[in-house]
Amino acid sequence: MRRVAALAVVAAVSLGLAACASKPTPAPAKSEVEVFTWWATGSEKLGLDALVTVFDKQHPNITFVNGAVAGGGGSLAKGILETRLKAGKPPDTFQAHAGKELTDYIAAGQIQDVSFLYDQLGLRKLFPSDLLRLLQVNGKIYSVPTNIHRSNMVWANPRVLAAAGLDPHATYASIAAWFPALDAVKASGKTALSVATTWTQVNLLETVLMSDLGADGYRGLWDKQTDWAGPDVAAALADFAKLMSYTNPDRDAIDWPAATQQVIDGQAAFNVMGDWAVAAFEEQKKVAGTDFTYFPVPGTDGTFGFLADSFTLPVGAPHPDGAKAWLETVSSLEGQTAFNKAKGSIPARTDAKESDFSTYQRSAIKAFRRDDIVPSLAHGAAASITVLDAVSAATKKFSTGASDLATFQADLVAATAS
Ligand code: GAL
Repeated sequence: MRRVAALAVVAAVSLGLAACASKPTPAPAKSEVEVFTWWATGSEKLGLDALVTVFDKQHPNITFVNGAVAGGGGSLAKGILETRLKAGKPPDTFQAHAGKELTDYIAAGQIQDVSFLYDQLGLRKLFPSDLLRLLQVNGKIYSVPTNIHRSNMVWANPRVLAAAGLDPHATYASIAAWFPALDAVKASGKTALSVATTWTQVNLLETVLMSDLGADGYRGLWDKQTDWAGPDVAAALADFAKLMSYTNPDRDAIDWPAATQQVIDGQAAFNVMGDWAVAAFEEQKKVAGTDFTYFPVPGTDGTFGFLADSFTLPVGAPHPDGAKAWLETVSSLEGQTAFNKAKGSIPARTDAKESDFSTYQRSAIKAFRRDDIVPSLAHGAAASITVLDAVSAATKKFSTGASDLATFQADLVAATAS
C-alpha cells in the first residue's frame, strides 16, 4: 500500500512538473479569416485594402487571407463560390448582394443567421430598415452590409463632348433624347458609349428598362406586374440595341475598368456603370466637373438603381471566430468609412459623417434618401443567380449577333419566368 502511495506521489509530482514545464501558457494561436470577394484589382482592391487596414488594427491576432477572384460583378467569383459551397469547402466569409442573391444562399442552407451579432453590436438601429429587410428571411438576418452602390449612372468626358460640339454639362430627359448627342460623338470619330463584357451590358440593359418603363414599370418586371413579352419591353430592348450600336468594338474582351478607362483617357464620351466607377476616376486624381462629369442615366433622374454588398457567415466556415471578427470590422463606423471612401459607394451605416465623403458620394447619399429605390438586376438585388445567369446568356446571345430583337425578348421572357 505504502509503495502504491509513494508511486502515486511520484506520478503526481512528475505530472505537476510536466504541467510546469509547459508554462507559461503560450499566446493564443494566431487565427485567420479567408475573405472571398471579387475586389481583386484596381480601385476595388483599394477599397478592400482600406477595410483590411482597419481589420488589422481592430484584430491584430487574426490574419487576413485574401480569397479574391478577379472579374467585375462577381462574373467568375460566383461560380467558383458555388463549387466550393457545394463541396463543403466554404471560405470563412464571402461577399454577397443584399436581396434575391442572398436569399439563394439562405434557401440552400449555406449561410448562418448572424442576428446575434446585430444584438451584440447594437446594429439593428444603424442600418436603413429597407436594407435590413433585404438581408433577412423569417426574422433572421443573414449578413452584414458594407455599403450601398447605385447602378444607373453615366460617366462622361467633358473634353470629348466639347470637341464633338456638345454642351459638356448637358443632361438628357430620356434615352431617345440622348441619341443625337451619341450621334455627334460618333461623327467626331470617338466611341460614343463605352461598355465591356456581358455583365456590364446587363447593367446597361437594366438602366434602359428603368428609364423606358419608369420606376414602377421596372419594379413590376420583378413582381410580375409588368409583362416581359409586352410592347413596352420591346421598345426598351430596341433602345438597348440602338445604344449598343454606339459602343466600342473590343467590348466583349474587356471588363469594366477598361471600359471606364476609355472615358478617362478621352477615347470615349460616355460610360454607363455603377458608381464604383467614380473610384477609378478619383484613384487617378481626376477632378469632377473638369476631367469628368456624371448624371443619372437619361430618364432615370429620381430613380436609384440600388445594390448593396454584404458579408456572410457560411455554414461550416473553418474559422468562425475570424469570420465574426471580420463582420465586426465590416459593421464598424471606422471600417465603413475607410472602405466606402475608397470604393465610391456610400456607407450602409446611417451614422457615418457625410463630410468624410466626396462630392459625388454626398450627392448619392442625398439621392438615396430622396429617390425612388429600385433593385439592380445585374447586382443581385432584383433576381436570383439562376435568373440573372439566364438573362446574361440571352444578352450575350443578342449582343454577339446570335439572336434578333424578337428572339432576345422571347429569351428574356423564358429567363424570368421562374
Ligand atoms: C458589383 C459589386 C460592386 C463592384 C462591382 C464591380 O457587383 O457590388 O461592389 O465591385 O460589382 O465589380
